[in-house]
Amino acid sequence: MKIQTITSIPEMRKAASEFKGRIGFVPTMGYFHQGHLSLVESSQRSCDHTIVSIYVNPAQFGPGEDLTNYPRDIRKDIEKLGKYDVDYVFLPDDALMYPQNYKTWVSVDEITDFLCGKSRPTHFKGVTTIVAKLLNIINPDKIFLGEKDYQQLIVIRKMVADLNMNVEVIGCPLIREDDGLAMSSRNKYLSEKERDRAVNIYRSLKKAQAMFAKGIKDSESVTTEIKRILLDSELKIDYIEIVNPNTLRSETQLSKGCRILIAAYSGKTRLIDNLEIK
Ligand code: PAF
Repeated sequence: MKIQTITSIPEMRKAASEFKGRIGFVPTMGYFHQGHLSLVESSQRSCDHTIVSIYVNPAQFGPGEDLTNYPRDIRKDIEKLGKYDVDYVFLPDDALMYPQNYKTWVSVDEITDFLCGKSRPTHFKGVTTIVAKLLNIINPDKIFLGEKDYQQLIVIRKMVADLNMNVEVIGCPLIREDDGLAMSSRNKYLSEKERDRAVNIYRSLKKAQAMFAKGIKDSESVTTEIKRILLDSELKIDYIEIVNPNTLRSETQLSKGCRILIAAYSGKTRLIDNLEIK
């Protein structure tokens, strides 16, 4: 199917406002893998129309992060969307989203101060600002976000609730490669060796689940075991946290439904992953 692309805000606003049925919106930074495409599939299943945006948002990258190297391939992305029933792909650019003298930011307090927010202090302000802008332009009924970026999902839910935004936030399951590595556009940075090491992040999460199944519930013992697996695999740990899935606050005991969140470096690449304890 030929995908229609839009690069202007008035045009995007008009096209979206002319739809009669429910609109699903999938915001992305492109370089699609099956994780992105699963969000499109979810939108297609529960909405009448689907709009995808592709925009590498500079505001969510800190100084020295990978903004310039972030993988991009718009042509291939659009080709991949051809298999789906996508109505429009919105392709804004920096001049459109952050024109000269841009001054307005949306930020969510507290839950952005820890986990990824600790090592990336300006990241979530960039995410919430761009998502709020895109929601204002497209005005969808539902926004589809992956659970891979679990903190991002909770932060966006909080923004939507606090600002009384008229959109339903749908969290979609994290998608893994066959060997368990969480799909991410940043996996492209990994050398073969770094990729082999990175698989141990999932292995450590599975070990945590197995410990819980055996009755080991104290977070400290489980975290110590995860740490051992990651360090033995030559991964550099940013954080390992066992948290309440709604507040993201640390839990001293594992229980069904809690989440284990991990950020770790394989070589220079920072990877995140998480698992819901069942
Ligand atoms: O998850 C992402 O790809 C980005 O953070 C998002 C939500 C598209 C905002 O730029």
